[in-house]
This record gives sequence, structure tokens and C-alpha cells, in this order.
Amino acid sequence: MKGKWVPSWVLSVWYIMLLCRYFHNCSAFTLPMKEQSYFGTMVFLLDGNVYPKGCYQVVLNVGQPPRPYFLDVDTGSDLTWLQCDIPGAKNLPAPHHPYKPNNNLVKRDDPICASIQGTNPPVHTPTDQCDYEIEYADHCSSYGVLVRDAFQVKYTNGTSIAPPLVFGCGYDQKVSQSGPPPPYTDGIIGLGNGKSSILSQMSSMGLIRNVVGHCLSGQGGGFLILGNDIVPSSGIVWLPIVRASTEKEYSLGPADVLFNGQATGIKDIPIILDSGTTFTYFNSEAYKTLSSLIKENIDTKQLTDAEDDKSLPVCWKGSKPFKSLKDATIYFKPLTLSFTKDKNIQLQLTPEAYLILTDKGNVCLGILNGFEAGLGDVNMIGDISMLDKLVIYDNEKQQIGWAPANCNKLPSLS
Ligand SMILES: *[C@@H]1O[C@H](CO)[C@@H](O)[C@H](O)[C@H]1NC(C)=O
Repeated sequence: MKGKWVPSWVLSVWYIMLLCRYFHNCSAFTLPMKEQSYFGTMVFLLDGNVYPKGCYQVVLNVGQPPRPYFLDVDTGSDLTWLQCDIPGAKNLPAPHHPYKPNNNLVKRDDPICASIQGTNPPVHTPTDQCDYEIEYADHCSSYGVLVRDAFQVKYTNGTSIAPPLVFGCGYDQKVSQSGPPPPYTDGIIGLGNGKSSILSQMSSMGLIRNVVGHCLSGQGGGFLILGNDIVPSSGIVWLPIVRASTEKEYSLGPADVLFNGQATGIKDIPIILDSGTTFTYFNSEAYKTLSSLIKENIDTKQLTDAEDDKSLPVCWKGSKPFKSLKDATIYFKPLTLSFTKDKNIQLQLTPEAYLILTDKGNVCLGILNGFEAGLGDVNMIGDISMLDKLVIYDNEKQQIGWAPANCNKLPSLS
């Protein structure tokens, strides 16, 4: 403020605020100042793997009294939902008994209902309840009604809280006929940036910052972080989140794709990060380019087509079954996503980030054709390509960062 004129009302407000801090009796001023200290961080252990389970799950305790549910971690959608115990419900096989609602329906005029239903709400029953329908990129879907109930969660300092959060009570779940078998799950935890996500709900209550991170271990398991007190063990690189007006996904880019450090002709493609997707998908053209480059560069003395292995569309076998993925990855070259417009920041996809080892000891390509999978033109980085990295989605600074990490070990917190 040196040399600058400060209006006297600024000084008097400042003075009143100081007095308030001193006497602790002016709630109008002390409240916003105290709010800062309520933000905390929560860490949850994850269970699951890319293959054979095909998903990573968190245990959340919901309801009063709280009951545990296994939920798929999905940064590609907003709404969290649980399969619900309603007469006539069409539920899928699940690890736990479905959630029982108890007169806790969310009304249709609730702002969260509007954010779910958007501009074309589903056809209403005459009641005041808030119906939802959600269809995922892989054509699985859940229909149901919004409810509000307590989520038992714990800060890293040990303090437990049970904020009332809105989620979907799903009574009609469908899976795609063609795709892989659905994950064995009680529901999905949506961690997108939309108003309805429990991340946004807890951050608007002042409980956590609107930041989510995950660390998926290649050995299975890992952890999920809600909040921003995370110290990556080594250098994290950040890229701005690109938001297309129609999409809520976490999108980056554009990026060029390199194969073994060389240009492939795949240029300027947008990239979506989605922890709810097991494998990585590229648009048809990019997929064809990459899969033929990978096939052409294979040592055919070491690897032959494993046509009898239907785990994924493209599989290879060695001279004898591989005991570990590492034994096979030495025959493959790395891919790189190069974000040319963002200081050339690169996301390295080592062979471990695009191959799986099947139960037959073969190795399969975990990069799939998005068009054939019904995803259209998208380029989607799934779990397989985010393994053994701490990936942080910061909705406050609108950026995504990653750093190599040991996901078998809980992070150090500031
Ligand atoms: C733990 O952190 C939360 C959120 O910052 C805070 O509200 C709570 O008082 C803290 N508890 C302890 C025991 O420090």
C-alpha cells in the first residue's frame, strides 16, 4: 500500500475486522474468516485392478446407521448412485444388500435436481420426486430417484463427519450386451466437476477443496484423495483443464502421439482422463495407426498372435506363458502424449500403461478402438494408462497434474 491512497472506509472495515477477531463477538466478520479452517482432506483406500476385475473401488459408509458399499471410482461422471432396495427394482448382482431409502427423497425444486435433469428432464410421474437417468459411454445405464443421506467420512487428522449428500437411488440398472461383463459393484462414485457430484457438494459445504486425486497401483489397490493437502513425492506437471461447453469430462489437449519417441502423424487430438474406464481408447484412425505401429515393431521370433485368447481384441503369446507383465513388456516400445501447446509437457505411456497379462500368460493390447466400442471419436485415457501415478484433478485452479508415485503407500500430507 506504500504511496497509494487508501479510502478511509477500507481502513475502518479493516479496523472493525481486527476488533472482531479480538473480541470474537462479531459473527458477520468472523464467520468467513473461520471458514477457511474447515477445509480438510480425506484419503480412502482403493481395491481392484485393471485385469481381471476391470475397475477400482472405494468403500463408502452411507446411511444412519451407516452401511458399507463398494463404489466404482469414476472421474468421468458426476452423479453418485447406489443400487436401491425398492419393490420391483431391477438390480445387478452386487457385493452388498442394496441401499434402503427412508423417506429421504430429494424434491424436484432442489438445485441439485436441476443440475441432474438439465434442459430435458425425464417424463415425470405425478409426484414431486426427482428422477434421474444416466447413461455411460459404454452404454450401461442407471435409472432411479435422488435421495439425501449421511456419508460417514473421515479427515486425515482423524475427525469423522457425516454430511448429508445427494445421490441416486438406482432401481433399474442395465449393462451393454456387447461389452465386457459389468463390474461387480454396489454403485458408482461420480467425481466430475458438475454440481451433483459429492465432490462439489462437499466443497460447497466448505468441507473440502474441490480437488480430487487418485493413485491406482499396477499391483492392484491404491488410494483416492478428496481435498487439496497432497504433497507429491516428486515433481508434478500441470496442464489446464479444457472444457468443451457440452462436456463435463476432464479434458486436456490437444496432444500429438509419439511412438518410441518418433512422430506418428497423430496430431492435435483432445484427450479425456476417465478413471471409470478400464482401458484406453483412441479414435478409429489413431487406433489403426498405433496398433499397426505396435504390431510392425514386434519381434516375431518372441511373440506370435494368440487368436485363441479372447481377453481383448489383440493378444500375443510368448514361446512359453509369461509369468509377469514385465517379462513381456521388454518386447514393446513406449508411447508418448505430447501436449505441444502446453510447453511440450508429456505423458509417457510405457508398455505397462497399455498392456495386460491375461490368466493364460499371454499379453494383450489395452488400447482399443473407441469407435468400435461405441464411444465415437473420443480419445480416452483409462485406468490402465494412469497406473502408478498420482493424478490430481484440481477444479479450483482448473488444472490436472500428475507425478510418478508408489500407490501402495499412503501419501504424505501437508
Ligand atoms: C480436522 O480437520 C478438520 C477440517 O480441517 C477440522 O474441522 C477439525 O477440527 C480437525 N480436527 C482436529 C482434531 O484437529
